[in-house]
Amino acid sequence: MLNGEKSTMYTENKKEKLRLSWLYCDCRYIAIWLLVVILLSTALGVALYFLVIAKEPYKGPPFLPTTLRPLSYNVTLRLLATYDSGRSDYDGAVTIELICLNSTDRIYIHKGDNIRIGRVSLKSVDGDAPDVDSIRHDGQTDITTIKLSDFLATNRTYLLQITSFNGQMSTDSSQPGLQLFQYRTTLGQTRFGATFATEEAGLRHVFPSFDSADFPSVFNMVIVRASTLRSITNAKRDITVKKSEDFLEDHYFATPKLVPADLAIVLCDFQYIRLQQAGLQIDVFFRPEIIANISVSADRMVQFADKRMTEMGKLDAVAVPGLKARFDKPGLSLIPEKQALEDAAAIAELLRRREG
Ligand SMILES: *[C@@H]1O[C@H](CO)[C@@H](O)[C@H](O)[C@H]1NC(C)=O
Ligand SMILES: *[C@@H]1O[C@H](CO)[C@@H](O)[C@H](O)[C@H]1NC(C)=O
Ligand SMILES: *[C@@H]1O[C@H](CO)[C@@H](O)[C@H](O)[C@H]1NC(C)=O
Ligand SMILES: *[C@@H]1O[C@H](CO)[C@@H](O)[C@H](O)[C@H]1NC(C)=O
Repeated sequence: MLNGEKSTMYTENKKEKLRLSWLYCDCRYIAIWLLVVILLSTALGVALYFLVIAKEPYKGPPFLPTTLRPLSYNVTLRLLATYDSGRSDYDGAVTIELICLNSTDRIYIHKGDNIRIGRVSLKSVDGDAPDVDSIRHDGQTDITTIKLSDFLATNRTYLLQITSFNGQMSTDSSQPGLQLFQYRTTLGQTRFGATFATEEAGLRHVFPSFDSADFPSVFNMVIVRASTLRSITNAKRDITVKKSEDFLEDHYFATPKLVPADLAIVLCDFQYIRLQQAGLQIDVFFRPEIIANISVSADRMVQFADKRMTEMGKLDAVAVPGLKARFDKPGLSLIPEKQALEDAAAIAELLRRREG
């Protein structure tokens, strides 16, 4: 019996030892886990610090410096809002010819929050150009900073190529940029169009630009649009090229130097009445359904128009449904349709009285 007890005690001892060693093992694991957790949280803390606290929103200069001056813009806008769909997105490309007046390794340019810049590159007209290192944007000032790998040479001309960007038109007239408008035909169909005109800065919401009165420039516009619509801008149209069954590309003559706020654009399915005054061609656009019964007067159109219409070689006046205010830009006036109709009625009345 004694022997038997001894052996039981012995086995129990062994079991205890085993249990203890197991417990010992557990403690080691806990220690390792604790260490790992501490290390990971420290790493996470450091990462969060750099992501959230150290990486404050990028701040660029408060306004565009005049060390770089745009000379001309070549802009292509692909406005594919079609006849029967109110698509509000569009895309395009812009090449800006710049002269460097004081060596710098940064290009600053305006871009609205509705515009996303894709590819950007720099070329020189007469030699090498530095590469684009990085692009950062300051949402407070709408200024994008393009950091270059090297400095630009004073008095040299460069081409800043934004080979792709995309934008959103707005449907709310309090928002800047291209405005989508719509109207209903007497048959109940919805038709779409778009306008851009601004009192102050605002071109940055149409395409990346040096959007301040300090930077007058020449604009070469190309507008791609549905074949059911027409495009109108400040300059006279040069040629229209067929892009596909559904899309046409309007090429416009170069404008004289204009400040960005002078630019205006209309996309619509309207028809026009052609007038002449002192050799100047004046086209007045209305919705197709109402144009048949409209009286227009060249004198009246010219009276309010921007006087640079002679420089532009034409005047287009467009009656836009739902437009809030009248804009008279070189070569292009945008008139609220209501106002244009009141004017037409007054002219019709005047004509009737003269005849009577
Ligand atoms: C800009 O457009 C004009 C007119 O189409 C053209 O003559 C000129 O070569 C273009 N410039 C650039 C840099 O593409
Ligand atoms: C060019 O920049 C330098 C350094 O910022 C400045 O000292 C100089 O006056 C500038 N020159 C001109 C012509 O603006
Ligand atoms: C840049 O051009 C101006 C005017 O032509 C000249 O006075 C100036 O010396 C030129 N600067 C450089 C660095 O070539
Ligand atoms: C044409 O306009 C006149 C006056 O502005 C109006 O009395 C008449 O009803 C209109 N006719 C049509 C077909 O809209």
